[in-house]
Amino acid sequence: MTTPPALTAHIATARANSNLALIKYWGNRSDALRLPANGSISIGLAGLFTITTVAFRADLTADQITIEEQRAPEQAAARVSHHLDHVRQLAGVTQRAEVTSRNNFPTGAGIASSASAFAALTLAAATALQLSLTERELSAIARLGSGSASRSIPGGYVEWHVGDRHSDSYAETIAPPDHWALCDLIAVVSRAHKSTGSTEGHAIAATSPFQVARVAGAVERLAICRKAILDRDFDALAAIAEVDSTLMHAVMMTGTPALFYWQPATLAVMESVRTWRSAGIPVFYTIDAGANVHCLCPAAQADAIAGRLKAIPGVTDVLRALPGGPAEVIDKADEVIAHGNPHP
Ligand code: DP6
Repeated sequence: MTTPPALTAHIATARANSNLALIKYWGNRSDALRLPANGSISIGLAGLFTITTVAFRADLTADQITIEEQRAPEQAAARVSHHLDHVRQLAGVTQRAEVTSRNNFPTGAGIASSASAFAALTLAAATALQLSLTERELSAIARLGSGSASRSIPGGYVEWHVGDRHSDSYAETIAPPDHWALCDLIAVVSRAHKSTGSTEGHAIAATSPFQVARVAGAVERLAICRKAILDRDFDALAAIAEVDSTLMHAVMMTGTPALFYWQPATLAVMESVRTWRSAGIPVFYTIDAGANVHCLCPAAQADAIAGRLKAIPGVTDVLRALPGGPAEVIDKADEVIAHGNPHP
């Protein structure tokens, strides 16, 4: 038996942005490997990020996971430990780790934290263990922790290739953040924690008779979305993103058990956005596994549209983000966590 390499100060900190899918990931071909039913396309969300420090320590007998300054609940801690096992296995080490993780966006605001969290965890752990991995390899590993985390390793406009095995299912940049200044205005209508999480939702997606049709059309929708992004064609992107979001929610609503994420205020925002767009205002919506509505518009129009969104009854807050960069290793000294909305 070979002796694992001696580890001394094996510590690293990474920061990863959250991301927003324009073509959604919903359902897996393999739940264990998080091989998705279809490819997806997203935008990195600048300024809505997780910062995670991982320190592998010889004196620990179990991983110690702290999230938002609280000891992680058992289930969350087990998911993090399981993910660390993938990285430990690659490095050929068994040492346990101390993990501390914080988001700079309010928890429960309906912004996916698993994407930024597992991307930051993957990069910090791999760096701490001095693994030399490509962005593609890091993205595939992040996917094992949370599917959408694969899209938070690269920056800008990102496509996650469906792949047919672990190493082929990864995300890459299709256009850099400065390719197109689109703004995501997140109309917050509920801060309640969702009752059914994405992992459970993926597992029942195939119980909807609509999932087959949704997946069958995904290659064509991906092509339309990719072209709309590369051409900066707002109207084409608006049409395909809204339809893709509705298709995913139709699957959610018609599975067993049925998942209804929308609230009355969700529909009020959808209705307003559609009315504004038919009056020539460039804005469209997309909704994840929650009640809050992501409204996309050119950055130049963001102030005016945010003002309109805030006036809709039931909208309690509007967060905003521009296209963000890739996950990065940072100095602990650089760590800046501003609680609340970084772009009020
Ligand atoms: C609705 O990546 O959160 O946001 O792999 O189980 O962690 P797990 O699921 P997750 O699912 C994201 C679902 C979505 C759509 C999307 O981001 O593509």
